[in-house]
Formats: sequence, structure tokens, C-alpha cells
Amino acid sequence: MKEPVSRSRVALYPGSFDPITLGHIDILERATGIFDRVVVSVLRNPEKQPLFSVEERVELIREATRPLDGDVEVDAFDGLTVEHAKQVGAIAIVRGLRAVSDFESEFQMALMNRRLDPDIHTVFLMTSAPNVFMSSALVKEVCRLGGDISEFVPPAIAEALRRRVARPG
Ligand code: PNS
Repeated sequence: MKEPVSRSRVALYPGSFDPITLGHIDILERATGIFDRVVVSVLRNPEKQPLFSVEERVELIREATRPLDGDVEVDAFDGLTVEHAKQVGAIAIVRGLRAVSDFESEFQMALMNRRLDPDIHTVFLMTSAPNVFMSSALVKEVCRLGGDISEFVPPAIAEALRRRVARPG
């Protein structure tokens, strides 16, 4: 049998996180059970009109992942995900898969990332059943329309969402 290697295994969990939901946190919690450290990183994407700035999203993720402290680091990036993965020393990119509809685009991204860097693997974690329908976009819509979002996001995120929706900008 091979000797175990004691190098720490780091994964990158990239995304928009506008804002982070309990679906993301479920994936993150499970990823921390597989990897020694998970870097959650917010993409700076000038093509999107987010509700929260990159800095706000980073802060909200820090708040929401406080119970996972030590195993989780929060960052932001621009450019290629595989380049950022290398910069943070990640051996894998973690993505959550909700339903068949996610599969096609995730498959494309995973294959493109592997072409760009064959040493970085994409690891898909299936979302837990209660989160199959959940997305940041839907949570924002429910919040805008006055619905209860407390089951979908941590309390601090719900509060930030309600404030932002009441007073945009
Ligand atoms: O939360 P999202 O919006 O589904 O995350 C998408 C993300 C950030 C993972 C994806 O858009 C991405 O990796 N963008 C970085 C640009 C890149 O590396 N493109 C080439 C490989 S697909």
C-alpha cells in the first residue's frame, strides 16, 4: 500500500454568490469534509449587475461561514478560475449540481477547465434534496416580492437582503 502523503489538500469553490445561500453552505460544509481547506472565491464579473458588490459578498460569506472557521477562506478573483485555483494552491474546483438543467453548462465548464489545466480536477457535489430548487436569483426574487426567505439563507444574509431590497444601491 502507498504511504499516505501529508500535503494539505485545498479546493477552490468559485461562484457569483449574490448572495450565498444555504444551498451553497451545504456544498461548502460537505467540501470541508473532503478537503483540508476550501477557498470560497467570488468572481469579479463586469458583465453582471449584482445586487451586492464583490466586497459585500465576501463579507457576507465570511459572516455566513464563521462556524466553519479554519477550514474555509474567503477571497475574490478575476480572470480564469483555473489560474486562481493554482494561485491558491488548489488541486480541485468544487461545484454543486442541483438538477439536470445545471449539468450541461457545468459539464462544459469542467471540460474547458480541464483543457486549460489538466492537473486541476472539478469535483461535483450533488445538492441536498431540500435545496434542489434553490438559487440566489430565486431567493432575491422571493425577497423582492415580500416572501419569507428565512429558510433559504442564514439570518445575517436574510437581513442584508431585506435591507438592500428595501433600499437598493
Ligand atoms: O455562481 P456561478 O455564477 O454559477 O459561477 C460561475 C463561475 C464563476 C464558476 C464561472 O463563471 C467561472 O469560472 N468564471 C471564470 C472565467 C473562466 O474561468 N472561464 C473559462 C472556463 S469555463
